[in-house]
Amino acid sequence: MTISQSPSAPLVVVVGATGNQGGSVVKALAESDREYRIRGLTRDVTKPAARQLAASGVEMISIALTVDNGEAAREVFQGADVVFVVTNYWEHLDVNREFAEAKMLVDAAKAAGVGLFIWSGLESIVKVSKGKYPNVHHFNGKGEVTEYARLSGIPFINVQSGWYATNFAKLDGMKPKRVADETYVLALPVGPQTLLPVIDTANDYGLFVREAIESPAFGAGSEILTSGEDITVGEMVSQLAQITGKKIAYARINDEDFMSATGLPSSVALEVLESLKYHEECGCMLFMPPMLNATYVMPLDYAGKDSGPSRVHLARPTRTWADFVRSTDWSFVLA
Ligand SMILES: NC(=O)c1ccc[n+]([C@@H]2O[C@H](COP(=O)([O-])OP(=O)(O)OC[C@H]3O[C@@H](n4cnc5c(N)ncnc54)[C@H](OP(=O)(O)O)[C@@H]3O)[C@@H](O)[C@H]2O)c1
Repeated sequence: MTISQSPSAPLVVVVGATGNQGGSVVKALAESDREYRIRGLTRDVTKPAARQLAASGVEMISIALTVDNGEAAREVFQGADVVFVVTNYWEHLDVNREFAEAKMLVDAAKAAGVGLFIWSGLESIVKVSKGKYPNVHHFNGKGEVTEYARLSGIPFINVQSGWYATNFAKLDGMKPKRVADETYVLALPVGPQTLLPVIDTANDYGLFVREAIESPAFGAGSEILTSGEDITVGEMVSQLAQITGKKIAYARINDEDFMSATGLPSSVALEVLESLKYHEECGCMLFMPPMLNATYVMPLDYAGKDSGPSRVHLARPTRTWADFVRSTDWSFVLA
C-alpha cells in the first residue's frame, strides 16, 4: 500500500473508511500508480480497523456524521479534491435518517468546495417498479439522495454497489442450509434465472471508485454500476457446489418461508424479499433480435441499464463469484 503524504498529492476524504465499501476505496487508491493523500473518517479512531488504516498512512479523523454536525463535516471536507460517501442504513433502519445524513454530507461538501462528490447510491425500487415494491427503503432512500445530489449542482458521480457476495456466506435466509447429511439447499423466493450483479465488495468496489476518479470516460453527472460478475442465482449455486465439492441444490421457496428464514423483523425481511423480487423482474431482459430465430438474455440488472461500460476502464479485473467462493472459508456454513 502506498499512500502519499505529499501536500501536492490530491486529497481524497473517505466516509466509512473502516467499513466494507470505504475500506475498499482506500485499498484501491493505495494500489494506484497515482499518488493520493487519504483522509479516513470514523467515529472511533482507536478501533483496530482505524488504527490499521492510520498505520498504512491514512489520516484518520474521528467524527460523528449526524445531521446536527454539518459544520464539523464541512471542516473535514475542506481542501478535498474528492469525497467518497456511503451511508449505513442497516445500522439504524431509518430511511429518513439516511436521507437527512446524506443530504447533510452533500451540503457540507458543496460548502467546502469539494471538486468531486462520489456517492454510493442505489436505484429507487419503488420508482423503477412503478409502486409494485414500495418497501425497499435502503434502495429508495439512496435513490432520493442521488436526486438531491444531482440537483445540488455539486460535481457528482453515482457509483452504485452491486449485491455483496458475502451475503451468501453470512446472512441467514441467503446462505445454504443443511437438509440432510452432506446435502444443502440454498433457498430464495425467486426463480433460479434471477440475475444479480454480484461483487466481492472488499476486494473490488473501490476499483470502480478509482475508475470514477481516474478515467476521463466518467465525468461529473455520470453513473457507474458495479459488479464482479452478473450471474444467476441458479448458476451461483452450481458453482458453489462444484468448487466446494458439496451437494448443494437451489430451491425456490414461498415468500412467508423466506421471510421467516431471514430471522429479521417482518418489516426488514419484507425489504429483503422485495429487493429479490425486484431483481427477478427487472434483472434481466429477454431479447429477440428481429432477424434471428433466437432469444438472448441480456444482463441489464440495474433497472434495465447496461453495466458493461462501467467495467471497461478498471485498473485490474474484478473477482468472479467463483473466485470469491474459492477464497472464502465455507466450513462454518457447510458444516
Ligand atoms: N449488503 C449488500 O449487498 C449491499 C449492496 C449494496 C449496498 N449496500 C449498502 O451498503 C451500506 C453499508 O456499507 P458498508 O457495507 O460499507 O458498511 P459497513 O461495513 O457496516 O461500514 C459502515 C461505515 O460507516 C461508518 N459510519 C456509520 N455511521 C456513521 C456515522 N454516523 N458517522 C461516521 N461514520 C459512520 C462506519 O464507521 P465507524 O463504525 O468506524 O464509525 C463504517 O466505516 C448500506 O447502506 C447498504 O444499504 C449493501
